[in-house]
Amino acid sequence: MQERLKELQQEALEAVQKAVDLKELNEIRVSYLGKKGPITEVLKGMGKLSAEERPKMGALANEVRDIISSGIEEKQKVLEEEAVQKKLASETIDVTLPGRPVNSGNHHPLTRIIEEIEDLFIGMGYTIAEGPEVEKDYYNFEALNLPKGHPARDMQDSFYISEEILLRTHTSPMQARTMEKNEGKGPVRIICPGKVYRRDNDDATHSHQFMQIEGLVVDENIRMSDLKGTLDVFAKKMFGDDREIRLRPSFFPFTEPSVEMDISCKICKGHGCNVCKGTGWIEILGAGMVHPNVLEMAGYDSTKYTGFAFGMGPERIAMLKYGVDDIRHYYTNDIRFLKQFSMHE
Ligand code: PHE
Repeated sequence: MQERLKELQQEALEAVQKAVDLKELNEIRVSYLGKKGPITEVLKGMGKLSAEERPKMGALANEVRDIISSGIEEKQKVLEEEAVQKKLASETIDVTLPGRPVNSGNHHPLTRIIEEIEDLFIGMGYTIAEGPEVEKDYYNFEALNLPKGHPARDMQDSFYISEEILLRTHTSPMQARTMEKNEGKGPVRIICPGKVYRRDNDDATHSHQFMQIEGLVVDENIRMSDLKGTLDVFAKKMFGDDREIRLRPSFFPFTEPSVEMDISCKICKGHGCNVCKGTGWIEILGAGMVHPNVLEMAGYDSTKYTGFAFGMGPERIAMLKYGVDDIRHYYTNDIRFLKQFSMHE
């Protein structure tokens, strides 16, 4: 019996030694020291022992129990300490690691150009006006001195929705709408940015949907020189103080006289290169003095009031400013293209 107890002690201590975690250790505790464990089992045979031997055996059994249990306790401390170390190791923060980048978006190049142009004109006392993209034939054409059947309607191939409704082909309908709202009274000074639509086949320089920014100034004594001065300020602020502008005669049914504005080529400084196709000048926008018919149709007395208007394409301006060579880049939302503009913020 004595031997059996010693054997059990040995066995138990070996098992304790091998235990890898607290759960296993607990299982060992239960199996060796529990009521149904082998020690209890051995002690059941005490009845067969002499009265002398019984207390000795009892004492030995207790000793074996104590040894096993202190073995377990020691091991428990070791395992607990290990568990704490492991947890600490898994939770360490390496403060020397570089931080994760915060991905912030940036404005679309067109939004940026439009906001820049808006700010520039707001600084000159203009306000922003916006109008519908689905427009009446009346405002898109008729009120702009383009009656039905006028050949100049062909200049802007249109998406018609019904006889009288279409997707606006330019932002100029806002000229008529704004003046009409003013009921023929008082000055107008507005900028209208927005989307416009034309039945064009998409290529590097054409898109069926693009943007325009319209400008309109109406007051007493507004002259061509006011238009020229305004456009000169715009060009220099937008492209740099060293840029020159020139006005070429042109035709729009809603302005008389009509002009197109060029700016001197930045690359060759007017000497002629690929970008300006050898001319030294780059076309930027259309403009002119508001046609008396347009003033009258919107309720303004054309003997008292005069005005100028201009219309430009932010895509083209952004192309020139940022060196973009294909208008489709603006609409395909390729992140590699868009990301390049964060540095201009
Ligand atoms: N609406 C004209 C166009 O789309 C541009 C323009 C606007 C011309 C205002 C003169 C005055 O081509």
